Amino acid sequence: MVCAVLTLFQYMVLSPSCSFIAGDHGAWEVTSVAPVAGECLEPTPYMDIRNGYVTRLPVDFNWLLRGVTSNQRYVNNAEQACLMTAQPQLGRPHATCAALIPVKKNETWWAMTQEDRREIFEEKSKHIATGLKYLPAIARKLHHSRDLGEPFDFLTWFEYGPEDSVAFEELVASLRESEEWKYVEREVDVRLKRTSGMRMDS
Ligand code: HEM
Repeated sequence: MVCAVLTLFQYMVLSPSCSFIAGDHGAWEVTSVAPVAGECLEPTPYMDIRNGYVTRLPVDFNWLLRGVTSNQRYVNNAEQACLMTAQPQLGRPHATCAALIPVKKNETWWAMTQEDRREIFEEKSKHIATGLKYLPAIARKLHHSRDLGEPFDFLTWFEYGPEDSVAFEELVASLRESEEWKYVEREVDVRLKRTSGMRMDS
């Protein structure tokens, strides 16, 4: 128990954490909240992204999801080099469209070894190879939530220009057909449009 509390404290204080807060106002207008697998999130008109770990849902807000950035799990050196070259920063002025896609994987996934997970993630599902084709059009950030006791394991965030909306749908559809997605037990697809000049550090 003490260890669990200490781990949570370390995540909250030492890791770069981020809080997604949905409510009646915010820098992002929510255009849709759609269930993909499992229980959906409550519809909400706006969402805000706060750096840091917001400890409780502010009054008048609908939901709060938190995550931390962490080390890479699956990327090899060659893939890392490609990602570093092609990956754009978040907060580009033309990238007024965004998606927040929280994902929870099942216990079968988590019971596997790192080696077996990598085999499914990349060798079978080509997650990175597929994703790379959509860079630099789409900017992304992966937040980890599993060790925080949150309802999802990952909070994935994407920003792109309206001209790349079709490409983004194609990417999402392609990943959802992959072997990796057989292990997804909960997923919600939240789409947004920027309402202000808000920027989030990448
Ligand atoms: C924009 C193109 C994309 C690229 C370049 C990309 C790249 C990556 C990379 C490199 C990782 C592994 C990070 C690590 O080693 O820990 C990752 C993880 C992940 N990505 Fe993507 N991705 C893209 C799009 C997407 C999309 C559209 C979704 C959701 C529909 C998604 C969901 C995830 C999830 C849930 C993980 C965590 C997987 C796990 O650790 O089990 N990604 N992505």
